[in-house]
Amino acid sequence: MVDFHFSASLVFSILIPILFFVISKLKTSTSNPTKLPKSYPIFGSFFAILKNRERYAQWTSEIITSTPNLTFTLRRPFGRRLVLTANATNVQHILKSHFNNYEKGDFFRSTLRDFLGDGIFNADGENWKFQRQVSSHEFNTKSLRKFLETVVDSELSDRLVPVLENAAAHETVLDFQDILQRFAFDNICKIAFGYDPGYLSASLPEEKLAVAFEKAVKLSSDRFGSFIPYFWKIKKCLNIGSEKQLKIAVRQVREFAKEIIREKKQQLDGKSGLESSSADDLLSRFLSSGHSDEDFVADIVISFMLAGRDTTSAALTWFFYLLSINPEVESEILREIKEKQEATSAYDEVKEMVYIHASLCESMRLYPPVPVDTKEALSDDVLPDGTVVRKGTRVTYHPYAMGRVEKVWGKDWAEFGPERWLEREEAAGEWRFVNRDSYTYSVFQAGPRICLGKEMAFIQMKRVVAGVLRRFRVVPVVVEGAEPVYIAGLTAKMKGGFPVRIEARAEAAS
Ligand code: HEM
Ligand SMILES: *[C@@H]1O[C@H](CO)[C@@H](O)[C@H](O)[C@H]1NC(C)=O
Ligand SMILES: *[C@@H]1O[C@H](CO)[C@@H](O)[C@H](O)[C@H]1NC(C)=O
Repeated sequence: MVDFHFSASLVFSILIPILFFVISKLKTSTSNPTKLPKSYPIFGSFFAILKNRERYAQWTSEIITSTPNLTFTLRRPFGRRLVLTANATNVQHILKSHFNNYEKGDFFRSTLRDFLGDGIFNADGENWKFQRQVSSHEFNTKSLRKFLETVVDSELSDRLVPVLENAAAHETVLDFQDILQRFAFDNICKIAFGYDPGYLSASLPEEKLAVAFEKAVKLSSDRFGSFIPYFWKIKKCLNIGSEKQLKIAVRQVREFAKEIIREKKQQLDGKSGLESSSADDLLSRFLSSGHSDEDFVADIVISFMLAGRDTTSAALTWFFYLLSINPEVESEILREIKEKQEATSAYDEVKEMVYIHASLCESMRLYPPVPVDTKEALSDDVLPDGTVVRKGTRVTYHPYAMGRVEKVWGKDWAEFGPERWLEREEAAGEWRFVNRDSYTYSVFQAGPRICLGKEMAFIQMKRVVAGVLRRFRVVPVVVEGAEPVYIAGLTAKMKGGFPVRIEARAEAAS
């Protein structure tokens, strides 16, 4: 009797729990190969977030692409929730049909306010609408043509090509990411201020404005990472550490912007009304629209610099990397470059390069320049897939994950295939570009706030691709089969830069 009792309790107290444990393990490991982050009271999933902070985009992408509904609610410390989605129906809801409920929001705005002020990137409502309206003229066809022929082409032939020629002649190793960032910085300064910093010159100078700007971006976005929300505010009050540095960097950028604004005002005052209205940089546009408050105009210009500075360079860095491991794509591009050389104008040439266009779309699908983008709900809502969003919850749409959804891109989603974006026109034997809707391919955002510079970005990137590849081969300096690492901040970067050698092509067609 005693014996029986003993063995029965043994079974119940030891074996059964073990059995349950094993069954539950089996269940989770078969139905759920990607581990969803554990969540604890107060801390939420802080430990998982901390552990994966170097690969935030990749980690969250693995999570949401492994859920059946492509959506996941991450529990952040102190009960804050973050909804992450890669479902195009949800994205359309957030960015278009319920646009008014999803703003930049207080968290984003207050975190970036010191740097961006009330500039377009950090504005909602009427203030946003006004800036969007005035600046949209900068992006019409006439302005874009002029931008290509004056700004891009001179930066290309006077700066980029000579730097690459020099590197080819001396067999030096260049950080191509740095070169492309310099290119984009000069470009955007010319558009925003009508000012040329000459950041991409033969000596690759340490340019004061560029360095301060880089610092301000980095330190501002680091504020997002703190465990205790708004902890940076305490450091700011005490003016210590990173907050002290940020203050210095921001002051430098602002002082610089204001100096240019004052100069520009004098120039505009000296001209007749007719002349000044033909000025074609953004700053002149805003000044002649009646806005003379220096701080506000500085805000506007700084946002545009941020928008135009690291996006095209990130896109091109990954593009040239992907070309280096996909030589058949490079050959097709060279064929297109040769074929389109007869075009009547630079603008037409760029417009006709559909294969390059497709290749750029494809590389940004895998390596989007803006990895994730977050909005804040103004009131309670339910997303189309049933996800509950409470007032104040932040909601992220995730371009990096969206480019990796098998249901959308197919089993070969991991492969670089520009043909995904193309159809052969049988009669002419030419490629035709087939677009995807902007909710499925959310690289430029979508809806009323879709990237203003999208077309400008393509023009600039296509011109650089054609201008570089027709003269040079870009050869990565690979460190023992190491794959480059994608790191996500406000914009994406290739970790540690992109070291390359430049080889002149034997038969340079210029
Ligand atoms: C490949 C290059 C680019 C990509 C992938 C890209 C992507 C994006 C994305 C995702 C946004 C939404 C950001 C947000 O609201 O949080 C955005 C907004 C914006 N972009 Fe771009 N961008 C690119 C190049 C450019 C360029 C060259 C400019 C030109 C100056 C530009 C100007 C803007 C502006 C002004 C906005 C704010 C629009 C608004 O809030 O109404 N972008 N872009
Ligand atoms: C996204 O969610 C909607 C609504 O639940 C669903 O109908 C659709 O199939 C989902 N899309 C994908 C690609 O899973
Ligand atoms: C989406 O999937 C996740 C993970 O499987 C689940 O936790 C969540 O409840 C689902 N959301 C909806 C609205 O069904």
